[in-house]
Amino acid sequence: MSFANMMRTKSVEQSIAEGDEPEYQLKKRLTALDLTVFGVGVVIGAGIFTVAGRAAKDLAGPSVVISFVVAALCCALAALCYAEFASSIPVSGSAYTFSYASLGEIVAWIIGWDLLLELMLGASVVAQGWSAYLGVFLDHLDITLPESVSYGSSFDLPAFLLVAVLTVLVSIGIKESLRVNLALVALKVFIVLFVIFAGLFFIKGENYQPFIPPNQPAEQVETLKTPLIEWVFGFTQSHYGVTGILAAASLVFFAYIGFDVVATTAEEAKNPQRDLPRGILGSLLICTVLYCAVALVMTGMVKYDKISSEASLAKAFEDVGHPGFATLISAGAVAGLTTVVMTLLIGASRVVFAMSRDWLLPASLGKVNTKTGTPIKITVGIGTVVALVAALTPVGELEYMINIGTLTAFFLVSVAVPVLRRRNPKMERPFKVPFSPVLPIVSALICLYLMLTLPIETWIRFVIWMALGFIIYFIYGYHRSRLAQGHRAQEEPVEKSTL
Ligand code: ALA
Repeated sequence: MSFANMMRTKSVEQSIAEGDEPEYQLKKRLTALDLTVFGVGVVIGAGIFTVAGRAAKDLAGPSVVISFVVAALCCALAALCYAEFASSIPVSGSAYTFSYASLGEIVAWIIGWDLLLELMLGASVVAQGWSAYLGVFLDHLDITLPESVSYGSSFDLPAFLLVAVLTVLVSIGIKESLRVNLALVALKVFIVLFVIFAGLFFIKGENYQPFIPPNQPAEQVETLKTPLIEWVFGFTQSHYGVTGILAAASLVFFAYIGFDVVATTAEEAKNPQRDLPRGILGSLLICTVLYCAVALVMTGMVKYDKISSEASLAKAFEDVGHPGFATLISAGAVAGLTTVVMTLLIGASRVVFAMSRDWLLPASLGKVNTKTGTPIKITVGIGTVVALVAALTPVGELEYMINIGTLTAFFLVSVAVPVLRRRNPKMERPFKVPFSPVLPIVSALICLYLMLTLPIETWIRFVIWMALGFIIYFIYGYHRSRLAQGHRAQEEPVEKSTL
């Protein structure tokens, strides 16, 4: 085993050529609009429907809108880096593929493994949130599900069924699933706009006073739940004030997760060079505007310390005497969260697809079904894992894991931009990050800072997940990867195996 082998890189030309092999070829049918809808579909979800309320109530008060702007800036910098890569290497697999071309196989593996964590856990957690909203919605209709199989029970049946149905849709074909997605995303954006415009009539100026509540010490929390940075430097935990705004920024970061998933569908874009940067940056911009507006309206409608931490948007309308609006909003949240789960499932399957095409995972997994044009084995495998995790994991345990997985990927992609510019200066870059290497370095530093604000227990779980990834890599991928075997793109793998 040698370090040089672990750092072997796959040329950009090779990545693109492998994407053209017939048995691994995905259909190229997505337009810039499809990509933007796809992005908005995955980004707007539990983050704005629930997490924003919690952030305002516990951490930032009305100034949570500033937290949304800070988180958006962090994501925008990372998005620029993603856009440069996605337009120059329009191959399935997103950050995984980019780092294989620039930083080496081991880093690519780490990132792929990381993205899998983000996307699979993201899908599971949002499926649980969906089940919670379904419960609220059914309650409004006077329908109650049996407690033993509803949200928060030991087997969350609605979450399980949601993932099962979506897995079938995604297996049938991405264009078909995007059609369903389009209708649901339209409904979700309508509900968000409804919250903004209907809410405007209930804003009271006094609710914005104080806009930035004064900093206060937080009550004692368990060591494992302490942010790593505070534990390392021995800071006392506090909320509100400027530190509250920053803490809320790392929490509402969750609300922006997903724009990077647009890059995982790169190979299915008709004109990736032009449309991927548009899809990535466009969906981020739309979401930022909507989020800031919702945050302003919500904190204007209800005094920040009275905001509900669960179904905050629906409850805000109950508080101002409009329960009918609350029913509509919970129905919209159910539809909205559906698209998030579906898009995360697609993203996860495309990452595994890219890894198996490189033989870092068994090659036979990634074969595309001739009828549907999708990697069916992978989709079904991922759907099964996500459905079980969603149904069986206790609620509220895994959210921070998603943030740490995503931030690590953002960090590595930001670092990869200047590295690849130096290693491969001649590569065609239809979209370029301005002011490189300054912007990519600032982006990497912000990601690192936000990671350090995550709790110690999240770091421990993350280290365990990564250790598992290393074991699989050293037992399997290190020896069998296409690069390791020195095979040319069109050759068959030495040995085929199935999971
Ligand atoms: N951004 C996604 C959400 O808010 C993960 O649900």
